[in-house]
Amino acid sequence: MTHIYFDHAATTPVHPEVVQAMLPYFTQVFGNASSTHSAGREARAAIHQARESIASFISCAPSQLLFTSGGTESDNMAIFGAAQAGKSVGRHIITSQIEHHAVLHACEHLEKQGYEVTYLPVDHTGTISIEQLEQSVRPDTICISIMYANNEVGTIQPIQQIGTIARAKGIPFHVDAVQALGHIPIDLNLLPVDMMSFSAHKVQGPKGIGALYIAKQTQIPPMLFGGNQERKRRAGTENNAAIVGFGKALQLLAGDMYETQQKLEKLRLDMVTKLTELLGTDQVVINGHPTERLPHILNVSFPGVATETMLMNLDLEGIAAASGSACTSGSLEVSHVLKAMNLPEEVLTSAVRFSFGSDNTPEQIEIAAHKIATIVQRIRNK
Ligand SMILES: Cc1ncc(COP(=O)(O)O)c(C=O)c1O
Repeated sequence: MTHIYFDHAATTPVHPEVVQAMLPYFTQVFGNASSTHSAGREARAAIHQARESIASFISCAPSQLLFTSGGTESDNMAIFGAAQAGKSVGRHIITSQIEHHAVLHACEHLEKQGYEVTYLPVDHTGTISIEQLEQSVRPDTICISIMYANNEVGTIQPIQQIGTIARAKGIPFHVDAVQALGHIPIDLNLLPVDMMSFSAHKVQGPKGIGALYIAKQTQIPPMLFGGNQERKRRAGTENNAAIVGFGKALQLLAGDMYETQQKLEKLRLDMVTKLTELLGTDQVVINGHPTERLPHILNVSFPGVATETMLMNLDLEGIAAASGSACTSGSLEVSHVLKAMNLPEEVLTSAVRFSFGSDNTPEQIEIAAHKIATIVQRIRNK
């Protein structure tokens, strides 16, 4: 059976060079980075070097990066941290309706504790309105959290503009850049952002490691207490191997990010071209922003073919794709992102996300497009 993996927005295979870079840190350089002996110093030096690689990739100071267990923890730390730090100013937070659940559920948790949250709507491309954002700001607003790029449809938000407003009003601005990292250039020297979340497993690094960028002027209280690790901001013995893997993954990407993105853009375009050729332009609906979007995500609806039927048939053909929807008791819930975009019912209920990676090939696109077209035609003819 063919095995074609088009779900890189969910997670990516770890790059073989990343695996090689990590291996010594399980058995040879296994020291505790807090220990004063040479084994500890060696581990500490490796963590230091990885932090420098990551900081250089996003143009910030290494000391502004805090290692976490991934995107979820980074998002939680930013939201809960901002809420706690801003307590004396107010209890109002602004976010959007299309954030990842790591942000949305953290905000819902705060609502139960008396915080007020404004969930900004988006237009049909998945973009927030700057005017609505400005109108939502209140004297008691203590945090704005807007994602860089959406994980379901790939739409990129106007981060520079949002940050400029946040800075002018003196409100801490958090950006979930988990999907954006490695796919669009991120320069924290230029961006008016106070906190930014990252995760290694979306960029061919290992799972369970991520980072939170915290600007110098931003005060975020610790969430974990114990040792002095991460400048007392997150206690716990460091995961040497995972940190080294994260650094290596970005070091590799730094060398060929532009070429990789060109390749992914081409794969995406080939898929759209082939599908419209085989099914007709009116039978293939592309969701998300036409230009302000990530290169590797293609969210497409095939009206008349239910998302779960399509995903099941694709799986039977050996093709891994996804819906943004959560699976509750065996049936798919309609995605909160597509719902917020106010798409027609037949588009909402037939959306599938294909997300490409550097291990994909034009041949896989050709095979998959034919299989998809066959599935669509078979179901529509039933
Ligand atoms: C936009 C976004 N934020 C946060 C996360 C959570 O990251 P992690 O899986 O590292 O916890 C994801 C993962 O899918 C994501 O896509």
